Amino acid sequence: MPATVVVGTQWGDEGKGKFTDLVAAEMDVVVRYQGGHNAGHTLVVSGETFKIQLVPSGVLYEHITPVIGNGVVVDPRVLIAEMDGLEARGVDCSSMRLSGNAHLIMPYHTELDALHERHLGKAKLGTTKRGIGPAYADKSMRIGLRVQDLLDPPIFRAKLEAALSHTNKVLAKVFNRLPMNAEDIAREYLGGCAERLAPHVTDTVTLLHEALESGQQVLMEGAQGTFLDLDHGTYPFVTSSNPVVGGACTGTGVGPRHIDRVIGITKAYVTRVGSGPFVTELFDEVGDHLVEVGGEFGTNTGRRRRTGWFDMVMMRQAVRLNSITEVALTKLDVLDGLERLKVCVAYELDGERFEHMPYHQSVIHKAVPVYTELEGWSTDLSGVTRSSQLPAAAADYIAFLEEGIGVPIRLVGVGPGRSQYLDWQEAA
Ligand code: IMP
Repeated sequence: MPATVVVGTQWGDEGKGKFTDLVAAEMDVVVRYQGGHNAGHTLVVSGETFKIQLVPSGVLYEHITPVIGNGVVVDPRVLIAEMDGLEARGVDCSSMRLSGNAHLIMPYHTELDALHERHLGKAKLGTTKRGIGPAYADKSMRIGLRVQDLLDPPIFRAKLEAALSHTNKVLAKVFNRLPMNAEDIAREYLGGCAERLAPHVTDTVTLLHEALESGQQVLMEGAQGTFLDLDHGTYPFVTSSNPVVGGACTGTGVGPRHIDRVIGITKAYVTRVGSGPFVTELFDEVGDHLVEVGGEFGTNTGRRRRTGWFDMVMMRQAVRLNSITEVALTKLDVLDGLERLKVCVAYELDGERFEHMPYHQSVIHKAVPVYTELEGWSTDLSGVTRSSQLPAAAADYIAFLEEGIGVPIRLVGVGPGRSQYLDWQEAA
């Protein structure tokens, strides 16, 4: 059976959790392919709110096997706390599978993340300080520890000693901090963590291929978004993994020919947390409206998100980078009550017009948006479940976006609840 990928098309926080959860209903396996607990999904089911950071979204369905793929970086303490929290609320996590090849976030990664940020001063990236960048850096330096090392204590200790012999010099000599003690770390990770996680550690590549070969539906769940991608995002203001669809292949071990559906999750406006260029950013009362009505504060860090108008230049690039086959538009209801809406259709700099993302970062930093203005609507969309119930201005807004994106918009979200959405294609 072919696989489906869910990918964020902006800077993360597009509302992937809700739609992944919706699509997951038709799936047998849901696999996370990159990132770590820098992500945060909010799901509202029967009025109950679940905040999930590491466990794949499908966990709320009994029929789904949730999988953490090899491309994810895992802080075992966080994963255990999340599983315990879910289980305390009656969500069974026993079927969750964790790739033995996923890398571990170690206590020194979290410390180094904060230290690097402080060291950068005004040039800081605004990371989530979860240790994501340093964990992926150690993976690339080949001094990382993997989940499978938890199952082999002598190997774990040897690798930890090797990593610390490097990292402790950095901590002491670069940042003037105390070195970390290998024994303390080993006690915590090999003690409680290893035993708790051992039943979940699996060869997830084989699991996924066997699922595909036996005709099961596999959903590959991305975290963050296209423009936080290490290769294709607004570097260096990016995360340290590949949220784009290519990351789904490397982060799970499933090749591209298995993927036949790529759902691009797109917010009806744009937000960003942390530093970096943002062409359509708003600094006025419309920006405040989007923050307040949209609840635009990080699920994870509580930081106020930066907000701006919908950016078609980003979206065209996201379609190209991810081979998007359909779009899910989220949070349309947040635009309720705005008299006029703007959509950025191109960038401009020094008389030059850019319909597609300029490759040079300096251009993106200085470019100004070219807007098309549309009518707003005053109706409350939160109870709309069919396109025919939409006010004409809202239908025009969706149709305008769909034409510009060049890919069908299917589901449109009008509120946080599982049932607050409509199928735009039903009317077409
Ligand atoms: P890191 O992933 O913690 O290293 O942070 C790098 C950049 O990605 C920062 O600008 C973060 O704010 C941003 N970021 C990381 N995870 C998320 C997310 O799940 N949503 C939105 N932004 C994120």
